[in-house]
Amino acid sequence: MAVFDTQSIREQDRAQVHPIQHPKTHTDPVVVERAEGVYLYTTDGRKILDGMAGLWNVDVGYGREELAKAAYDQMVKLAYTSNFAGMTNVPSSQLAAKLSGYAYPSLKSTFFTSGGSESNDSAFKTARYYWKRVGKPDKYKIICRKLAYHGITLATTFATGVMRYHAMFGPAVPGFTHVAAPYPYRYDGDLREGETVGQAAARAIEEAILAEGPDTVAAVIAEPIQGVGGVIVPPAEYFPLVREICNKYDVLLIADEVITGFGRTGEMFALRHYGIEPDILSFAKGITSGYQPLGGIQFTDAIRDAIEGASDAEVWMHGYTYSGHATACAVGLANIAIIEREGLAERAKALGPRLLNGLSTLLEFPFVGDVRGLGLVCGVELVTDKDSKTPDPALAGKIAKMAQDRGLRTRTLGSTLAFSPPLIISEEEIDEIVSILGSVMDSL
Ligand SMILES: Cc1ncc(COP(=O)(O)O)c(C=O)c1O
Repeated sequence: MAVFDTQSIREQDRAQVHPIQHPKTHTDPVVVERAEGVYLYTTDGRKILDGMAGLWNVDVGYGREELAKAAYDQMVKLAYTSNFAGMTNVPSSQLAAKLSGYAYPSLKSTFFTSGGSESNDSAFKTARYYWKRVGKPDKYKIICRKLAYHGITLATTFATGVMRYHAMFGPAVPGFTHVAAPYPYRYDGDLREGETVGQAAARAIEEAILAEGPDTVAAVIAEPIQGVGGVIVPPAEYFPLVREICNKYDVLLIADEVITGFGRTGEMFALRHYGIEPDILSFAKGITSGYQPLGGIQFTDAIRDAIEGASDAEVWMHGYTYSGHATACAVGLANIAIIEREGLAERAKALGPRLLNGLSTLLEFPFVGDVRGLGLVCGVELVTDKDSKTPDPALAGKIAKMAQDRGLRTRTLGSTLAFSPPLIISEEEIDEIVSILGSVMDSL
């Protein structure tokens, strides 16, 4: 039974401006009152399967008392205190120790943030800092990909390669260059005869490094799977080539695993699918499954040495009030314990094909152009017709709205519908996603 009245909450909500708010995007907002497992329950009595796990993050599902208890226990002991140099707390130390070498063996050191944007901003600053410390101060540029999403601070906005995010916030922050995404369905870069999309997209990175001048390039940043850009899964050969290119030109590789970290793709971290390691890793979202805001970066010993070997004048002047937040870190530890105990990465690997195969049956509709995914993250791309592959974002929006009215939450990313459900989702609930979406498409 709903406790709150929908209309009165909507009236109070008028005092709030929401992310990406526009009169068209916030009419009659759904008021979510509580959630359990994979389902959201609204004040007007609806039950909605959350096919997006919030914003790709509620990996362990909703209503986990264990995480509430971890937060409560920590809060009554020590909710928060400064974690700036010279002080630490128990949960942040334990979580850093837990994460040391956890994602990738060569990344042993962690710096905590409160989310993905702060993590990527920290990654850029740390890459620049590193090169200054090792005597290459001109290496400051970051090579990014089109359709990348790296966050919403000023710098991460301009690292982002979804150009709508840039439009109203210029002038652009200098130092970010975008190259073609490894997008097999619609590659927009230069594709040579005999070359695969993965090879061409990797060559685009090499050419950008050469065009900018390797002595000026600090890093390449890449999401293993591009989420917000439309769930773009790269060809298998792409990342090993990108790693080689970074090595060849002495450029750091930053992996933005804000979505893909902690099991979503069927490996605990997604570059493991490709057998490579980054120099810097950005993480957030899945580390707490959204039960507390927490993120961070991890980096190699070489970078740690640069930080620790600095003179007074060269100190790494970087840190947030909430870096190493005691309660957030306690929840992170408890959340990782659940992910491990319940084998959620393995579960994503085992159940991912059921979601992908189910969604792939929708390719029979003339307006479903492509279905792709890895583990429990999938995209369904809509087109006006399969031959021209013209993107149809209006249809995507319409289907998402109809699906929500029938009890399924998805997210439109341009012309793609994204699915990234909690990793605890059952086989029946996966089938429910496919069947609601199918019934919406049938009725069009
Ligand atoms: C790949 C990626 N990086 C960074 C971010 C930004 O994270 P946050 O919204 O926590 O700042 C996101 C958010 O969706 C993301 O998908």
